[in-house]
Amino acid sequence: MNNASPFHNISPSDDLVTVTFDGIEYILPDGANLAASLLEAGLRYFRNTPVSGAPRGPFCMMGACYDCLVEIDGETRQACMTEVTSGLKIERAHRDKGLEND
Ligand code: FES
Repeated sequence: MNNASPFHNISPSDDLVTVTFDGIEYILPDGANLAASLLEAGLRYFRNTPVSGAPRGPFCMMGACYDCLVEIDGETRQACMTEVTSGLKIERAHRDKGLEND
């Protein structure tokens, strides 16, 4: 599988911060859109559906589809409606239902 991201930041920032996603550190632009930054970092799915465990990733990028849900400090939030800030501890939503599909 090709893990190279097709997403690129058109105005890269020098102001970078560290976040974790499922315990893995990522260096992302401070204040950027979290969903876009994680896609650029190469992540494709952010949550599993609660019933079947199917993987889901950002789709609409405007707060309508809820496919970008993640858990940040135990709270379920839409990644496309969240800014990157230093120290975010992000987990896949409904990961316990997930398949072995990282
Ligand atoms: S990508 Fe659709 S709500 Fe976030």
